[in-house]
Amino acid sequence: MKTRITELFQVKHPIIQGGMHYVGFAEMAAAVSNAGGLGIITGLTQKTPADLAAEIARCHDMTDKPFGVNLTFLPGFENPPYNEYIAAIVDGGVKIVETAGRSPEAYMPAMKAADIKVIHKCTSVRHSLKAERIGCDAVSVDGFECGGHPGEDDIPNMILLPRAAEELTIPFVASGGIGNAKQLVAALALGADGINMGTRFMATQEAPIHQNVKDALVEASELDTRLIMRPLRNTERVLKNAAVDRVIEKEKQMGSNLKIDDIIDEVAGIYPKIMQDGAMDAGAWSCGMVAGLIHDIPTCRQLIDGIMLEANDIIHRRLLSFVD
Ligand SMILES: Cc1cc2nc3c(=O)[nH]c(=O)nc-3n(C[C@H](O)[C@H](O)[C@H](O)COP(=O)(O)O)c2cc1C
Repeated sequence: MKTRITELFQVKHPIIQGGMHYVGFAEMAAAVSNAGGLGIITGLTQKTPADLAAEIARCHDMTDKPFGVNLTFLPGFENPPYNEYIAAIVDGGVKIVETAGRSPEAYMPAMKAADIKVIHKCTSVRHSLKAERIGCDAVSVDGFECGGHPGEDDIPNMILLPRAAEELTIPFVASGGIGNAKQLVAALALGADGINMGTRFMATQEAPIHQNVKDALVEASELDTRLIMRPLRNTERVLKNAAVDRVIEKEKQMGSNLKIDDIIDEVAGIYPKIMQDGAMDAGAWSCGMVAGLIHDIPTCRQLIDGIMLEANDIIHRRLLSFVD
């Protein structure tokens, strides 16, 4: 399949694996890229820019295909040394960066000077237009269904994607809630040039995470995610568990008086415990509604080939049969 996204990133299939904290290690990114998609290493999971440089080198050892690095610009006061992370990306010869969180505007000159293609992930049309204005090459339009941070507008992809198509000139991928071929074809019909998947890629053989997490995704239904941290305007979609129940109870009790310190035990430093130790009630972790569509744990190649094969079939047989 050829789209503006496959052309832009020089990949075989219009399928991106979004950056995921403590999931997007070199093994994950290389498996997706080797299967013809675009794999992405999560920059800030690497504790220092030097660690990121080593992770990029490991990924180059595992694939000769293009891969990217995610740089998440955090909302809080924490300020990682972003310029040094970008230097590690540039020196590592990575030519694609997925940005997310706050606007990447301040860092665009450094990335553009190194000929890096920037795809910014955002949850609204206005932020997508801003990304276009500041020189991003593409956007990842992340609907309300998504795992992670859906923003505060709550617009699902059935509306958000065609709205993005009305306004954007640069290519965009549909992100959030996507896990199968029907949804890829729908995303293309709604104006996107490809898809970005997070949660679905966690339930793959190569995802370097604990088996308990993969099993939890297969078990979960579309009813099992919850939104937390709305009172802090840092809404996150997570899989329901005992810790998430506690957060929701505190949010109910404290309402708009809630402070991050009130829930810090449930939300800070959780990812290694979940992803590496498989301690499934250790805290809140991002998970999308697409869990309801995850029924197996294939290899990345099986997943991507299966999606592309079925998408072709839907386009050539099902859709064409309506107009023939
Ligand atoms: C476990 C997990 C961790 C994530 N961590 C990040 C992150 O660190 N930075 C980021 O930009 N997005 C992060 N995301 C969001 C994904 O990149 C992607 O946008 C999202 O998962 C898409 O929605 P989906 O899960 O419904 O496919 C994370 C998602 C998950 C499921």
